[in-house]
Amino acid sequence: MNILILGSGGREHALAWKISQSHHCDQLFIAPGNAGTAAFGTNLSVSPTDFLALKGACITHNINMLVVGPEEPLVKGIYDFFSTDAALQQIIVVGPSANAAQLEGSKSFSKKFMRRHQIPTAAYAEFTAANYEEGETYISNHSLPVVLKADGLAAGKGVIIANTTEEALNSFKEMIQGKQFGIASEKVVVEEFLQGIEVSVFALTNGTDYQIIGHAKDYKRIGEGDTGLNTGGMGCVSPVPFMDEAFMQKVEETIVKPTVAGLQAENLTYYGFIFFGLMNVNGTPYVIEYNCRMGDPETEVVMPRLKTDLVGLFAAMDNGTLADANISFEERSAATIMAVSGGYPGDYEKNKIISFPANAEQLKDSMLFHAGTLQIAENIVTNGGRVLAVTSLGSNIKEAAEKSKAILENVNFEGIYYRKDIGYEFAC
Ligand code: AMP
Ligand code: GLY
Repeated sequence: MNILILGSGGREHALAWKISQSHHCDQLFIAPGNAGTAAFGTNLSVSPTDFLALKGACITHNINMLVVGPEEPLVKGIYDFFSTDAALQQIIVVGPSANAAQLEGSKSFSKKFMRRHQIPTAAYAEFTAANYEEGETYISNHSLPVVLKADGLAAGKGVIIANTTEEALNSFKEMIQGKQFGIASEKVVVEEFLQGIEVSVFALTNGTDYQIIGHAKDYKRIGEGDTGLNTGGMGCVSPVPFMDEAFMQKVEETIVKPTVAGLQAENLTYYGFIFFGLMNVNGTPYVIEYNCRMGDPETEVVMPRLKTDLVGLFAAMDNGTLADANISFEERSAATIMAVSGGYPGDYEKNKIISFPANAEQLKDSMLFHAGTLQIAENIVTNGGRVLAVTSLGSNIKEAAEKSKAILENVNFEGIYYRKDIGYEFAC
């Protein structure tokens, strides 16, 4: 099978690494990819949202399967574009239809979906300019902290956790009246703050059956000890010691099964990954958000532990045999540490030359995934805030994290920063 992966981050490098190991995979292409994905396939300089250019690339390269990394093309309807085009219909698309991708693309849609299917989530109300005063009253009477969410995609910046009513009212005004996130914040979800530990669970589904392909805990803050600004993710660990069988059983029974049943009941066409962003509130899981794709850097920690052939799973998803698939996991623990550009998540510089460890090609229990990198002549340079993700396997989280750190000590570029405490709560 010829396979095209869309995207250019660490997630796509990890997917390329995993997919290239499948005996189902003949030729692999990545659009646009990065300096790391080029080692596993051919990078194509096509944007993941330029559907017409992607159509041309699929025809030229006889693509049989399209694996969509980021959410934007999904929310913009890439599944529907492929399934309704006579020249593309035969291609297996891993990613939901635009309707179903609203689970990520619209907070209001996902909250209503959860309410309809009694899926545990924070209590909420939603407001627009039409009921603005009602929203002010609701916020003024709300307990603190209170969470405000722009309805639409806002590049990961659309969530405000306000500690005072004044801050909440100001953010509300900024979002609705100030159009802070354009049309994405014309509608705002105001919800209860859930106190707990955030974790994520990943499933592959065809809208009828599902398989859980991994779980992780990510470290979102820039600073050690979980301090400072939020980022796209500074590291991850898997498996998570407290996500034991009893907890995962609750996740499946109260969240995963009702979600898949809800998709089916509402005829929402869904072939692809579901990322359940959860809050573990004293042992009870609640949904914080759905994403209609894999996470980054969660993919970098989940893929190295998944022993099952991923392309085989995609084929099973497509041909209705997903329920019979055998999923097996690497016994060892994995820890991913993300190296970022100085200044991230604020302003940062690009084009810094990266030097790699001498044995980067033959690491034993570790993988070095590129995120924001670019090959320029003989150099690989930084090309984003999140630059590289190093994942290692170890007999426990501590050992895995130590191995990833040891590798990062031999990676260098001007301004490099990474958290040295990933997995700190798990001493073994
Ligand atoms: P989201 O964009 O929905 O992922 O939200 C961004 C982050 O805000 C999440 O990863 C959580 O850390 C936090 N968050 C969102 N909703 C809540 C909530 N109801 N209670 C506590 N934290 C939340
Ligand atoms: N790491 C969070 C995400 O991919 O959305």
